[in-house]
Amino acid sequence: MIVQENIPLAPLTTLKVGGPARYFVEAKSIGEVQEAIQYAHSRDAALFVLGGGSNLVVSDAGWPGVVLKVAIAGIEQQSHDNKAVFDVGAGEEWDKFVASAVARNCAGVECLSGIPGSVGGTPVQNVGAYGQEVSETILSVTALDLNSDNVCELANAECEFHYRTSIFNTSERGRYIILRVKYELLPGGKPHLQYADLRNHFAGWNEAPTLADAREAVRTIRATKGMLIIAGEEDCRSAGSFFKNPVLAASDFERLTQRATDKNLQIPSYPALESQRKVSAAWLVEHSGFSKGFISGNVGISRKHTLAIINRGKGSAAEVVALKNHIQDRVEDIWGVRLEPEPVFVGV
Ligand code: EPU
Repeated sequence: MIVQENIPLAPLTTLKVGGPARYFVEAKSIGEVQEAIQYAHSRDAALFVLGGGSNLVVSDAGWPGVVLKVAIAGIEQQSHDNKAVFDVGAGEEWDKFVASAVARNCAGVECLSGIPGSVGGTPVQNVGAYGQEVSETILSVTALDLNSDNVCELANAECEFHYRTSIFNTSERGRYIILRVKYELLPGGKPHLQYADLRNHFAGWNEAPTLADAREAVRTIRATKGMLIIAGEEDCRSAGSFFKNPVLAASDFERLTQRATDKNLQIPSYPALESQRKVSAAWLVEHSGFSKGFISGNVGISRKHTLAIINRGKGSAAEVVALKNHIQDRVEDIWGVRLEPEPVFVGV
């Protein structure tokens, strides 16, 4: 295990803000993960586990303790009962895994093409897009339990997946370090083409789209929204969606639609669990005086999607947080709904 000191964290994130890690360890094996934890304990230093850095806001002061980057590699495939199980190292790039699953004609993650980040991050916030969520294909998560120092395998149900949540970012936050994830995919399965953007993309096609077609379509749609990372492009120097789509109880949703009706507006919404409604955070931001391309010093809002806060080049974490607060306050004033941020804040 190699311990580096004062390593800048901004380049390791997609938003590219934040200060250095006092200590930095990249762990390529379970043994190295355990060694890094012992190192942090021995120095009484706080531990932060870094994945692909695509959903992070690191404070300008950085992290005073140990940053552990899990770099466990490997994509292993086993087939049984017409199912293909992929056992994937937490450090693998997510989109590389999706590409290899699609290339092997296995369905279940094709709509999650082009999402930045690492495999180990996907169960934490139950990554989802275009009508698919990883909770639908995760068989189990192999993790180091910091309470017992044992490696355990948590079955899907034990992860308690919901919209952008799991035990890993709620009830058991900080307890587990994710080492590997098993996904169960369907060989020869059809692509999942439920989402309106995808249906529109394929309207007029005479042949049924393949998994590879779906993957290409999702990447194309994501690119038009600035949600595909293209090096050096300002609109994708972001942490993806900065706010979750609020899920409202029926009565709160009624209050919100009344406010919209009073303004002759209609808010996009979708059914959610237990008679709740999920409403579009992007729409709420856009109808609170923030348009695409909004500028606030060195940060702003993407020109392609109102839900992405971007770093225009020399932005700081403080500016990102100030803009986040400003948006939350305005949306709450106008619509009575407090938006919840989606990224993880480190040392903020
Ligand atoms: N909209 C606007 N302005 C915009 C963009 C969208 O008003 O600039 C409204 C439109 O009415 C649109 C609706 O919002 O129909 C939904 O927009 P979109 O399809 O882009 O999806 P989203 O709800 O904003 C969610 C996820 C994305 C995921 C897409 C596609 C969340 C917080 N975000 O965005 O995930 O890629 O759906 O499925 O759930 C992420 O989590 O980082 C992320 C990018």
